[in-house]
Amino acid sequence: ADDVLIVFTPSGRRGRFEKGTTVLQAGRQLGVDIDSVCGGRGLCGRCQVKVAEGDFAKHNIKSRADHVSPWNEVEQRYHEKSRKGVKPGRRLSCQARILDDVVVDVPADSQVHKQVVRKRPEVRDIVLDPAVRLHYVDVEQPDMHKPSGDLERLLKSLREQWDLTELEDADLRLLQNLQKALRDGAWKVTVAVHRGKRLTAVWPGFHDRAFGVAIDIGSTTIAAHLCDLASGEVLASNGIMNPQIRFGEDLMSRVSYVMMNPGGDAEMTAAVREAINDLIAETAEEAGVSPEEILNATFVGNPIMHHLLLGIDPTELGGAPFALATNSGMTLWAEELGVRIHPDARVYVLPCIAGHVGADTAGVVLSETPHLSDDIVLVVDVGTNAEIVLGSKDRLLAASSPTGPAFEGAQISSGQRAASGAIERVRIDPETLEPRFKVIGCDQWSNEPGFEKKVKRLGVTGICGSGIIEVLAEMYLAGIITPDGTIDGAMAAKSDRVQQDGRTWSYLLHAGEPEIRITQNDVRAIQLAKAALYAGTRLLMDHLGIESVDRIVLAGAFGAHIDVKYAMVLGLIPDCNLEKVTSAGNAAGTGARIALLNQKARDEIENVVRKIEKIETAVEPRFQAHFVEAMSFPHATAPYPMLRK
Ligand code: FES
Repeated sequence: ADDVLIVFTPSGRRGRFEKGTTVLQAGRQLGVDIDSVCGGRGLCGRCQVKVAEGDFAKHNIKSRADHVSPWNEVEQRYHEKSRKGVKPGRRLSCQARILDDVVVDVPADSQVHKQVVRKRPEVRDIVLDPAVRLHYVDVEQPDMHKPSGDLERLLKSLREQWDLTELEDADLRLLQNLQKALRDGAWKVTVAVHRGKRLTAVWPGFHDRAFGVAIDIGSTTIAAHLCDLASGEVLASNGIMNPQIRFGEDLMSRVSYVMMNPGGDAEMTAAVREAINDLIAETAEEAGVSPEEILNATFVGNPIMHHLLLGIDPTELGGAPFALATNSGMTLWAEELGVRIHPDARVYVLPCIAGHVGADTAGVVLSETPHLSDDIVLVVDVGTNAEIVLGSKDRLLAASSPTGPAFEGAQISSGQRAASGAIERVRIDPETLEPRFKVIGCDQWSNEPGFEKKVKRLGVTGICGSGIIEVLAEMYLAGIITPDGTIDGAMAAKSDRVQQDGRTWSYLLHAGEPEIRITQNDVRAIQLAKAALYAGTRLLMDHLGIESVDRIVLAGAFGAHIDVKYAMVLGLIPDCNLEKVTSAGNAAGTGARIALLNQKARDEIENVVRKIEKIETAVEPRFQAHFVEAMSFPHATAPYPMLRK
């Protein structure tokens, strides 16, 4: 027969086709994942494949190098005109025709559902499947004898040429631009289809640039990651201060501001949206993208940030029963939120979990996937509050614990945010009680030669959250602090760094300008914060009926900077094999990025959030008992067998 065999790798799909069939056609029929925006017209270059075995026909076209080209004219033209070109050894599968038995390899970058590798073995990679896809389409011209609307003919062509079976309708805004686009593009247009259902934007002719932005609204900083929706690559990331700080440093003071100033919520909404627009503009510029080319955005934030972004008065979140306006994920117009990207773009806001546990925690869950774990995982995101998620694929619980801002360096006499000049690492000699330390911005220890000179420009300005944890743990290990958290005056006999301070004692860490000392009050502030964190965790463990956890993930900036060993020495987290304690960095932001790059992740997180059991620490009597016990270092009663090892 005239049939030839084609085998696709890595999928292993195979079939016999008539000679002359294009590889893309064969692939489509066999359900092979090959990307395309132009629908086989040799315009997008997304469909590139490699011959693993066999051969395609050669073409007698002289290429610029003056030898016989493996490409046909269309490929040659694409290669010359496009920025990326056809990669060596590849062909456009929409142009390559099978003439003989072949084995064709579809490289990862030519697949629609590419893997975006996260380089962390404990979490899954992201499968690229953005909510917005571009489709280039030929539309029939209008005919007086067969009257039909431009939109109806466009939808018909899309269904036929792209097999978009769920296509529903278009937005009014698209209609307002459609007739001009069709005529300007000579009846060829590119449309953006949102979630396979709705047409949201149209361009005349062929258009192949689609970007998305994932935004994490923290109470202190707002972070943005700009991604290429075709590759999943992060093109630029940036952060900006949250301007709401001028209305109140912490969340509750922002809620109080609203309660005391009518219209205060609108002011804060305007401020955060303005900052988001500045941040997007700056990030887009850095990536060489126009904000108009951003076709989708996702947002995470704690409940109060979430409500203020949406323009919802957060007063209800300021007191019991802490009712959210909604705990569903939401798909909205960018314009409704005043977000300046493509005017027809949609944005997705991840769901909040409970009144204290926001869409940022939903993002952490999406990133760290405790809901898929066989082991019991504890995920802790420490900020001004600690959000705690505990459980496995069988059952998941969440709570928020009022740690206060001590872990961020607030309420600490020499405390400061993690910025250059802040002490972040500390070691204390258990014999002499002499300290050495490192400051952010200089990689030398303070006792190494040249430290003074190097650090002169920075200055040693204070101590940050991770520095506090280390210094207290080292003080405890050296016996300067007793298990109940008292700075032991008896140690003054051993070192003159232990000094009387009114009725209590303090430890002089750095005798410079400013002087940095650890006071009894500092120790108390950390004790309160860590007791709250531990008590919240313990409460969830009680609910789950477990005595230990298999794995711990520390999320957030604090988690990224602290040495987990010291967190355990002080009893911030329950006992666990240290090898099973990992840091996830900004997992909330990663969750927003996952929801941006994979539309099904949105459904997934909405399902998970519905099932998470919400525990309100404030109303649980056991919380107080756990709290008191957790004031000791590492803990009054809980054993820490792993620590002893
Ligand atoms: Fe677009 Fe082949 S499908 S170039």
